[in-house]
Amino acid sequence: MKRKCILAIVLAAILFVCAAAGEAAQDQSEWWKRTIAYEIYVKSFKDSDGDGIGDLQGIISELDHLQSLGVGAVWLTPCYVSPQADNGYDIADYYNIDPAYGTMADMETLIAEAGKRDIRIVMDLVFNHTSCENEWFTESRSGLDNGKSDWYIWADPKENGSAPNNWRSIFGGSAWEYDETRGQYYLHTFLPEQPDLNWANPEVREALINVARFWVEKGVGGFRLDAITYIKKPAEMSDGEPDASDGTVGIHAMTANTAGILDYLREFKAAVQEGTDIFTVGEANGVSAEELPEWVGAEGVFDMVFEFSHVVIDLPDEMNWCETREWSLPDFKALFAASQEATKQVSGWYPIFLENHDQPRSINHFLPAGADRVAGGKALAALLLTMRGTPFIMEGEELGFVNVAWPSIEEYDDVSTRNHYWFAVGEGYSAEEALAGVHRFARDSSRTPMQWDNSENAGFTTGTPWLPVYEDYGTYNAAAERENPDSILNWYISLAGLRREHSELITGDYQELFHENEQIFAYIRENEKAKAVVLINFSLEPAAYDAAVLEGAELLLGTGAGEKGILAPLEAAIYEVKD
Ligand code: GLC
Ligand code: MG
Repeated sequence: MKRKCILAIVLAAILFVCAAAGEAAQDQSEWWKRTIAYEIYVKSFKDSDGDGIGDLQGIISELDHLQSLGVGAVWLTPCYVSPQADNGYDIADYYNIDPAYGTMADMETLIAEAGKRDIRIVMDLVFNHTSCENEWFTESRSGLDNGKSDWYIWADPKENGSAPNNWRSIFGGSAWEYDETRGQYYLHTFLPEQPDLNWANPEVREALINVARFWVEKGVGGFRLDAITYIKKPAEMSDGEPDASDGTVGIHAMTANTAGILDYLREFKAAVQEGTDIFTVGEANGVSAEELPEWVGAEGVFDMVFEFSHVVIDLPDEMNWCETREWSLPDFKALFAASQEATKQVSGWYPIFLENHDQPRSINHFLPAGADRVAGGKALAALLLTMRGTPFIMEGEELGFVNVAWPSIEEYDDVSTRNHYWFAVGEGYSAEEALAGVHRFARDSSRTPMQWDNSENAGFTTGTPWLPVYEDYGTYNAAAERENPDSILNWYISLAGLRREHSELITGDYQELFHENEQIFAYIRENEKAKAVVLINFSLEPAAYDAAVLEGAELLLGTGAGEKGILAPLEAAIYEVKD
């Protein structure tokens, strides 16, 4: 009898160890589902050498900041050799680091130092286009007949010599640029300095696969695939129905998500990702929630895709920053619910984001005007860190950064921001209206230097910062916020800790509550172990709700009094329901 009992205990112990090991193995292979990702705008994060430009050594010196946030994946905006026409999204050499950012040795150090803190580096692969200074393009444009003549999208002029069609680039102006030597036009979805690669050519695809493999071998943990929905062009590149007074049509409507694109991406996945533990996240502007199931999940092409419906909720036409759309909280919630539902169908995963380097700051974007900045930043953080998926924090978001509102367009650095301004003026808006649009949507707002402390230039640089440091750095900086227990930064740190301890916030299902409620964003996250209820008041008024959902529930974390049935303005509360 005694022996049997011991045997049973030993067996149970073995089973337990095996199960734990199984779980650990699973954790390992899908590590990116359990972590928090952080986007670094390399140029603006931390300057180590006083040239006013953030760099890799600067990042290495601030890894502790990321570790304290529980970050396990850091997406670096492109830091390859680039003439910087679009701040690095125009790559001249995929195999080297831009000297302004450091050297390949610095990159190797960064990967190693980050690794010591369980942080993986995620590279931005800009594969829709290169820089016009990339050797590939130099060769391609050298004549009609060269080894790379078909590596880009070339087309003959119309009979009258004008561009092959009326497509307008995403940054404004014709999407075609004339090249004297070839007597042809080349296509550029973005700037003329960013010629589009021809993915229909297998040699191009192979070259790009080789680039990605090179970085996998360097030890990166994943890739963000830039502007990936534009890589496939339709067979017929004819004129489209104009949508602007100059007779042009936005290229997005003509080329985004062209049928057949997934074949290219499947090939890429098989060649680059198979047998590795890296993850991929595609920038998929133009893929709707209904289309997500084809893109993610085991059969999909990426582990996650950034889907944009919620960030353009207020922007009916991405080229026209002067026209906004009214929206309500139920609209906003419905967009999240749709993406959740779509990814769930295929057991796919979702990258949660409210900001990135192309978007305005979320406090301005998603909260009512006049919202208290600290309470508002915390309310948004609660959403970001408890929704189902991997949260992507944009640098500065964890400190509560807000949009800049510089008084003239000349002060804005971003070429797309300036082009949007001039497009609006061309469409007949006044300078004032055009500037108001810039204040709402300028990409510069998410690119101002990181604010580390209250010393000169916020501790970002000892030199002259490439973009002005925002004037509020005396209060909103990492050092001050770390000291203050009620800061936005410390709230992020608490939420990150909560995620680590509550697996339901990671693997749990997502089920929306109170959909019609115009003030409260609420949902249940539940797995086999536990059930959490998240309640966030997005409005500036107290908001009441039916507390029956909280029967027997205990407050895990909250920004307010945590009184059941009522939320103060912008209050966020996370409960655990014990059944
Ligand atoms: C993506 C990037 C953006 C860049 C564009 C062109 O949308 O996020 O910053 O300007 O692609 O590469
Ligand atoms: Mg520097």
